[in-house]
Amino acid sequence: MREIGIGIIGGGLMGREFASAVSRWGHLTGHPVRPSIVGVADRTPAALEYFALSQPKPAQLVADYRELLKNPAIHAVYVAVPHDLHQQVYSDCIRAGKHLLGEKPFGIDQAANVAITSEAKKRPELIVRCCSEFPYWPGAQRIISMVCKGEMGRIIEVECGLLHSSDMDPKKPINWKRRVANNGEYGCMGDLGMHVLHVPLRLGWQICNLRAILSKVFTQRPGSAGSSEMVPCETWDNATLLCEAATEFGDRFPLIAKMMRIAPGETNTWYLSVKGTAVSARFSTRQPRSLFTLAYTPGKPQAWQEEQLGYETIYQTITGSIFEFGFGDTMLQMIAAFCDQIDKGPQAQLPFGLATLEEAAGTHAVFTAALRSQQSAQTVQVQ
Ligand SMILES: NC(=O)c1ccc[n+]([C@@H]2O[C@H](COP(=O)([O-])OP(=O)(O)OC[C@H]3O[C@@H](n4cnc5c(N)ncnc54)[C@H](O)[C@@H]3O)[C@@H](O)[C@H]2O)c1
Repeated sequence: MREIGIGIIGGGLMGREFASAVSRWGHLTGHPVRPSIVGVADRTPAALEYFALSQPKPAQLVADYRELLKNPAIHAVYVAVPHDLHQQVYSDCIRAGKHLLGEKPFGIDQAANVAITSEAKKRPELIVRCCSEFPYWPGAQRIISMVCKGEMGRIIEVECGLLHSSDMDPKKPINWKRRVANNGEYGCMGDLGMHVLHVPLRLGWQICNLRAILSKVFTQRPGSAGSSEMVPCETWDNATLLCEAATEFGDRFPLIAKMMRIAPGETNTWYLSVKGTAVSARFSTRQPRSLFTLAYTPGKPQAWQEEQLGYETIYQTITGSIFEFGFGDTMLQMIAAFCDQIDKGPQAQLPFGLATLEEAAGTHAVFTAALRSQQSAQTVQVQ
């Protein structure tokens, strides 16, 4: 089994999720790689405390990520830092010759994304991928498989989205995700958009043009917890994109994508609905075990059927097939794919590989067009 040393840059919410997933690697069976967390870098000492107490404790806990990049025992890095740091940190990782799994949106804006992509193109031997774990849900994989096999017939309409309500409370204090300087002009699209668009892009659907409606629900928030001083909350809270998409055969259809940080009643709802002339299918993490499908047969009732999904994964695990799958499992499957790609090489076709440089660039083209559409209140071409 091949051993891979991993460094984590940014030990916040996602850095801990990543480390937690790696810590239960024994859950997988037959994977060709065994990763271990060799070092963690975070400029906040409090963030490193979690890793100092974890077992096994990573050998290198540092404030400056460049120390990690000098460590020859680190072959790959996972980076989860605010968006304004993506270009510098990702480019440094690539220049240091480390495989990179970088968080979305992979650059604070399109110019940053182009700069990261151009660094990556200089090192084609490295695996450079963008995080996107939701497609590893069993229900998502089933729909992807149905589309790839051509079972849906002609696509009539697609709806996809990621909705949550973590900003519903107007008293929630400001943080970097609500400041344009750190989070970017994209706002909620930069936060949630890769999750929404990854599957459509992977299925080869080109987003040709769109009309975006972006909204700011709360324009001010407390400057800190318990403070009555209000400061500007600058970023877009919610985005609805009505897109015209095209298949590789030139068939055009509407694709409605929603990215909402203020969606009443939703905790973290990722959904995908594909309506086709032969088969329609929909999956939502609101009902994570259920896959709904409708097969159209002329003259027969048009009835949706619900199938209870079990623990269906790309990378085999010890879990029984009837048990439930969850968010932590999507992370484990995604990291398994990253390590598999490192093992097999950049050109290897995996059952479902991580979001590529081209797919990350595709999301930036959509978000940039959406900003133009919002500003002009017009339908715009996606370039
Ligand atoms: N894949 C997902 O489901 C998902 C979910 C949430 C966030 N994200 C993405 O993950 C990234 C981080 O988000 P988060 O929610 O973990 O944020 P966070 O604020 O919880 O964590 C960010 C961490 O980065 C650290 N940091 C900041 N500057 C640094 C530097 N120069 N060097 C080292 N560490 C530094 C901070 O101290 C903090 O601990 C973002 O790109 C975000 O879009 C992805």
